[in-house]
Amino acid sequence: MNTIEFRSDNAAGVAPQILASIADANVGSAIAYGHDDVTAQLEQRIREVFEHDTARVFPVTSGTAANALALTALCPPWGSVLCHTTAHILNSEGGATSMLGGGAVMKGVPGDDFRMGADALRTALASITWGDPHHSQPSVLSFTQPTDMGTIYPVEAVTELSAIAKASGLKVHLDGARFANALVALGCSPAQLTWKAGVDAVSLGATKNGGLSAEAIVVFDDAAADELVYRTKRSGHVTSKMRFQSTQIQAYLADDLWLRLARNSNDRMVELAAGLQELSVEFVNRPDVNMLFARMPADAIDHLEHAGLLFYRMGPETIRLVTSWQTTPADIETALSHFHAALA
Ligand SMILES: Cc1ncc(COP(=O)(O)O)c(C=O)c1O
Repeated sequence: MNTIEFRSDNAAGVAPQILASIADANVGSAIAYGHDDVTAQLEQRIREVFEHDTARVFPVTSGTAANALALTALCPPWGSVLCHTTAHILNSEGGATSMLGGGAVMKGVPGDDFRMGADALRTALASITWGDPHHSQPSVLSFTQPTDMGTIYPVEAVTELSAIAKASGLKVHLDGARFANALVALGCSPAQLTWKAGVDAVSLGATKNGGLSAEAIVVFDDAAADELVYRTKRSGHVTSKMRFQSTQIQAYLADDLWLRLARNSNDRMVELAAGLQELSVEFVNRPDVNMLFARMPADAIDHLEHAGLLFYRMGPETIRLVTSWQTTPADIETALSHFHAALA
């Protein structure tokens, strides 16, 4: 049976250009622990891409590591990280930030469309007693961009929420596990969506969009960057052969590969969502990028599974569908014919 992959963009393979970059870096030897030329060039490249002269970059091997390390460099052990109630850092990282952050806690802030609302953020900031050691002190605001439910914050919303947080002395982090998908959907520059909108540190994902276990922490805040030198090592994230991670991120950014791969994922979702709308399928989220949560009868879900569609069941009548850089127009056409039959 031919299967069609909609479980996760993590299930997709490695983009050929990125795989080739690993072979290209595998010539001769190079000094270890990130002191190599490829890693030095990566920092320069990140500065160009983010239009920021002093940005620093720390390659790591997972999105959880990028988030936890970035957040703990911005948050004291007695602090709290405010994020949306559905955020990955709150629900799906096993408390990594609290562990690496010496007990720093995460607090959910509600908001429509799986995004924090400005009023809810103001309420969260007003509801604690500042300076009272009985309360974790809000120290960081973290966006998930795109959100775990496939929606995105417009640049204006990132700017507004960051300004509210900064007025209370918070730092701002962005979980960009699918950052390229957000950039493509918004049509803005990396700088506009990050430091120009008040963001101090970004977890820049690549693995979900064609990389091979390569993510990077991009930091605009000098003090946080200085801490990350030590925090990455102490948590075991200064890999000895870092050049093979750095080269992946280099290849990812070269010739706009990251944007081209993300555009494919997003465009395939546009086609899938349009076809499902014609079939009157109920959507849980607005699929701004490459992720759709959809409701349908359980017997239709069973039918789709038997037809070879791979997806996650999120509840008895809810499924998650994720497109990737590898999804083809033919995959979508075939999938839609299965949906048609399942819902007939
Ligand atoms: C929004 C978001 N952030 C972070 C992560 C963590 O990435 P990793 O699984 O590489 O630790 C994920 C993974 O699914 C994610 O969806």
